[in-house]
Amino acid sequence: MRAIDIIIKKRDREELSRAEIDFFIQGFTTGKIPDYQVAAWAMAVLLNGMTPRETTDLTLALANSGDMMDCTVAVPVAVDKHSTGGVGDKTTLVVEPLVAACGLPVGKISGRGLGFSGGTLDKLEAIPGCRVDLSTDEFLEQLGSVGVVLTGQTADLAPADGKLYALRDVTGTVQSIPLIASSVMSKKIAAGAAAVLLDVKVGSGAFMKSIPEARQLAELMVDIAEGSGRKAVALLSDMNQPLGRAVGNALEVREAIDTLQNNGPEDFVEHCLVVTAYMLALGCTVQDAEEGRILAEKALENGAAWEKFKTLIEVQGGDIGYLDDPGRFPKAPLVETLVSPRSGYLKMIDARTVGETSVDLGAGRAKKSDSIDHAVGIEVLHKVGDYVDQGQPVYIVHANTQERLTAARERLFTALAWSETPVEPLPLFYDVIGEQ
Ligand code: URA
Repeated sequence: MRAIDIIIKKRDREELSRAEIDFFIQGFTTGKIPDYQVAAWAMAVLLNGMTPRETTDLTLALANSGDMMDCTVAVPVAVDKHSTGGVGDKTTLVVEPLVAACGLPVGKISGRGLGFSGGTLDKLEAIPGCRVDLSTDEFLEQLGSVGVVLTGQTADLAPADGKLYALRDVTGTVQSIPLIASSVMSKKIAAGAAAVLLDVKVGSGAFMKSIPEARQLAELMVDIAEGSGRKAVALLSDMNQPLGRAVGNALEVREAIDTLQNNGPEDFVEHCLVVTAYMLALGCTVQDAEEGRILAEKALENGAAWEKFKTLIEVQGGDIGYLDDPGRFPKAPLVETLVSPRSGYLKMIDARTVGETSVDLGAGRAKKSDSIDHAVGIEVLHKVGDYVDQGQPVYIVHANTQERLTAARERLFTALAWSETPVEPLPLFYDVIGEQ
């Protein structure tokens, strides 16, 4: 086989065989097929697509490029979750301990922030000492002994995906549904969970801007899971406005703590309960999501999820003194409340603009090598549909320089749109895809 023939075949809209896909991905992983040929192939895939069968074969080839974890050596059933990324999305910090507190082991490999969307690892690192670099053996040991793990990807897990993603990032080929689906699912399959809850975000602050696009991605990922002998359910969830109130690393950890202590923002609490309910149903802890929700509400209310979170952070080396006294988290030197310039119903709080402003404040990275400031970020005080009076607070900005504060102030008002007449609140979820 020759790489050039495989590129030409995809360029000419033909379907690749499993053997061709395996050959191509193996050649790329070992360095026998150079980046420029893989970049040309990725562009052909972006333009001409892939069949579900090709996408499943690509996923398995990416997963098989490194270690394949087997969670059943530690626990009979483990669940995992994946969010396609959003603004203010600190769901994992609440849902992981909540699911584990309901008796279902959950092991998750998380990522860092990407563009305007935040990453769980960056949030976890706001807790001094918290390790996010567990080895495979440590992962499995902790999954068995504590029932909950939250760490970063090791170099040995789906390495071909890491290489391919880096290449896509610089060749304009990220935005391909088969490439996104195979990239996400290869990591989930290599991480070894039997069941995966996919939180597919849709809206201005998400990769997928429209419901049909998000549905296509969700259906493809659920098909891949089924084709590889796993269970998956995908939720299509709203990301037109930020989730919860906090955007920025330490601010989001504090909001997760508030939520685990039964004091979280209404939309975020509801989002976490629904995600947890479906995870419990997927792991067969309960018969269906309805029953899962009752169990989740109980574990949140009685403090079991909060205790599990503290255990998780402690076993991963984090200083739990910060959890008991969140006032110790780093604070930005400049904190300013922005008030509404007018009265009216909020019609839009554009998640992407808020996310980009948070990155510009220093909460995310413009380049991979940038360091982040855990203290900075934005508190978004309203939701779409709220009536706001002129002069009422709408945002609290946490900044580390006057210049960044001034830029954020200007930008954040452009995220808002108003109506004289009442506006319907945005739904939290649009659909559920996959066997329930
Ligand atoms: N996240 C991933 O892991 N891969 C993609 O391709 C896009 C988002």
